[in-house]
This record gives sequence, C-alpha cells and structure tokens, in this order.
Amino acid sequence: MTRKSPRGFMKLGAFFHPTGNHVAAWMDESAQIDAGQNPEHYQSIAQTAERGKFDLMFLADAVATRDGDLNALSRWPQYMAFFEPTTLLSSIASVTSRIGLVSTATTSYNEPYNVARIFASLDHISHGRAGWNVVTSGNVSEAYNFSRDEHYEHGVRYERAEDFAEVVRGLWDSWEDDAFVRDRSQGRYFTPEKLHFLNHKSKHFSVRGPLNVARSPQGHPVLFLASASEPGKELAARIGEGIFSPLHSLEAAQAFYKDLKGRMPKFGRDPEHLKVMPGLNVIPGRTEKEARDKFEHLTSLIHPDVGVELLSDAVDGFDLRGYPIDGPLPEAVDATETKASTGHFRNVVRWARQEKLTIRQLYQRFAGARGQRSLIGTPQQIVDDMERWFLNYGVDGFLIQPSTLPGGLDDIVAMVIPELQERGLFRTEYEGPTLRDNLGLPRPKNRHVN
Ligand SMILES: Cc1cc2nc3c(=O)[nH]c(=O)nc-3n(C[C@H](O)[C@H](O)[C@H](O)COP(=O)(O)O)c2cc1C
Repeated sequence: MTRKSPRGFMKLGAFFHPTGNHVAAWMDESAQIDAGQNPEHYQSIAQTAERGKFDLMFLADAVATRDGDLNALSRWPQYMAFFEPTTLLSSIASVTSRIGLVSTATTSYNEPYNVARIFASLDHISHGRAGWNVVTSGNVSEAYNFSRDEHYEHGVRYERAEDFAEVVRGLWDSWEDDAFVRDRSQGRYFTPEKLHFLNHKSKHFSVRGPLNVARSPQGHPVLFLASASEPGKELAARIGEGIFSPLHSLEAAQAFYKDLKGRMPKFGRDPEHLKVMPGLNVIPGRTEKEARDKFEHLTSLIHPDVGVELLSDAVDGFDLRGYPIDGPLPEAVDATETKASTGHFRNVVRWARQEKLTIRQLYQRFAGARGQRSLIGTPQQIVDDMERWFLNYGVDGFLIQPSTLPGGLDDIVAMVIPELQERGLFRTEYEGPTLRDNLGLPRPKNRHVN
C-alpha cells in the first residue's frame, strides 16, 4: 500500500525558466543553450517532470523583452526571445498525458474573450490539464507594446483583473456540458436552450458572448495567481485555486496561509480549494558538498556586468556601473531609500553595512536566490525542510525551480522525488487524468445549471 503522511500528499509544480532559474544557468555546460527557442527541449523536460509525477509545469510570460543595459542583457538572455507559452503548451500536451499545463496571461494587455478562448482550447487539447496564471504585469515595457506610455496604476490593474477574470469565467459557462447532442437522426447539432449569452457590461469590459468553444473538460481551467499585495490576496481568496507568491520563513508562510485561507469563507469558498505553493530553488547533491559545489560553480559563472545590473535593480535603479566591483556599495545608495523601497533594497544595504560585503559579494548573494527561497543539500536535508513546512501548515506544496535545465530537473526527479515518496509526502501515481483531479479541486458547476 502507498504510504501517506498525516497530511496526505503535497502538491508540486515545476517552474521552467528556459535554461533554468539561475541567472548564469545558460553558461553551465549541462544547460540547453538555445532553450527559449527549442520546442523539443520543453517537450523533454515536461516528460521528465511527468515521470516525477509533478502536478503541473508552469511557464511565466511577458508581452515584451526585458529592458535594461543591452550589454548586460546580452550576457543574461533569459526572456529576451522565447515562445508564446500557450502555443508551446499545446505542443507539450501531445507528448504528455497527465501533467498539468499552466501559463501566465496578463489581464492588463489582453482581452478576456481571447484569454477565455485560448485556455478553454488548451483544456480541450490537453484533455483537462490547463491552468491560467492571472497576472497584472509589473513591467512598463509591456505598456509600450500596447499603445500606452505608462503602465496602469496598481489599484486599476487589480480592478481590471477582477473584472477580467469575471468575464472569462462567465464565458467558460457559455455552453452547458451536454449542449452538443450531435444528433443526425433529428438533424440537430446542439440544444439552443443550453447556449448562454454573457451580456457583461462593466467599467472595463463590454462582452456579449457566447464563447465559440464548448465547455471544457475541467469546466473551467484551473486559476493561479502569484500576488503579494492586499488587492492581490483578496483576488486570490475570491477566485484563486493555486497561489505561487514567494514565502521566506515558516512563520511568515504560516501567517500568509492562515490569512489567505481565512479570507475565503466570506466568498463562500472552502479553504481547501486554494493551494498555497510558493517558489523554491532546489539544488540536490549526493553529499552536501556536491550540492554546494554545484551552486558555487553557477555563482562563479555570473558575469560582473550582469551582477551589477541585477544589484542596481535591487537598489531601486541606483546605477552601480563604474564603481569598483571589489569595493564597497557607495554610501550614496543608502540616502536614496524611500517608503516605496523594496525588501530587496533594505536587505542589500543591510548586508553591505553590517557584513561589509563588496559589490561582487553582494550580487553573488543576491543573484543566487532571485527573490525565492533556496534549499541546497542532500535529498534528506531538502526533504526535511519541505516536510517541516508542509506538516506545519505553512504550505500545501511548492513550485520547484530547477537551477539549470535539463540537468537540475533530472537531479530533482532522481534524488528528491523518491525521498518525498519514501516518506509518504508525495504520490507515486497520478490520482486522475485532469489537473483538478490531481490537485484535489472540484469541477465548477455551470452557473446556468441548478
Ligand atoms: C512564482 C511567480 C511567478 C510569476 N510569474 C509572472 C509572470 O509570468 N508574468 C508577470 O507579469 N508576473 C509574474 N509574477 C509577478 C506576480 O504576478 C505579481 O505581479 C507580483 O508578485 C507582485 O504582486 P502584487 O502586484 O500583488 O504586488 C510572478 C510572481 C511569482 C512569485
């Protein structure tokens, strides 16, 4: 009989940045160097993740290249040229059969009809494995590609996102599940009463409907968010079924978990129906030293121009180019701190002053984690930590970010997954054919059916 922990199984996603999560991943000899433009690479890593029984794979997205110093960008090519993710997921659907296929689509630079249609189609094509990560975009460079000079203000973004998701969910209920009778004897293809117009009118959208795609296998593709702000958390509690927001300590995770799930009853929702799955960098080794050496090797591959660019971003754009790389962080940086400065800003300044780290040491420390938590060690050490977070209700699972691809994922599937399974923390077989089956989420009822 399969072992199960007292809390059952955790949920696991695999976050696939093209060459891997580490900024210098593409420089590692084991990484697929042209990953962003190589469909077979993605098909192959999706199959590996499916072998590891991951609930889902996730692709991030932006509707722009990254902006910044071109010299530094040319040494850190991630997300400069990469596939539109739902197109890519359609190709992955045909070479996998169980793993969930999740990607981002922004509510700021799309129309809800298009997004409803795309994800409903992906849900049909994958036989019930599609998920949509609802983001509002944080990046002004996307605005420039959509006839705007500036990005929507944060509050407006979330107002639009809420409205947008409402329209999408309404469109997904356009057809009742049994609307298509396809009856040659009666000469009737669908039942007219089982088709519903949306007739949505609000501040941001006017959408008549109906959607030109039949209700999809999951009813609605699964909805994810990665928000951290107050309006983001409210939206997650209202409609989210998975959330990827970063969490750095067990105490903070427990507070976030309680806060978020505590908001759900007022929307008539069961707290079990939103899975908290923060990002986690995982670098396993057969010994702790082997794992550390892998990480140190990647760190040594960060080009100083990339490191300085990353660090400049972290300190609110203070241009650190031209300062001696093995010298201190200039005193002038401290004075630029404002109320709006990020947690990254404060961390970097603190490390610089308290530990007297140089610019090089600062970017090496900062770049390693990329804003997410890291676990580097033996499979036992890594799983001890994951188990503690899961059994103590800090999380429902994790969004695992392999440092390099395909090698970092191969290591995780070979070393970490068996250790999780051995302890009854993770499945050895998929529970069912759809993403909802595996995440333990209900299939939404059509709003037009009692
Ligand atoms: C794991 C993870 C994945 C994300 N993926 C994307 C993405 O693909 N595209 C995007 O524009 N933002 C992405 N974000 C950013 C979030 O959607 C969100 O905008 C950000 O965390 C700030 O949240 P807030 O706007 O609620 O403050 C991601 C964040 C996390 C933690």
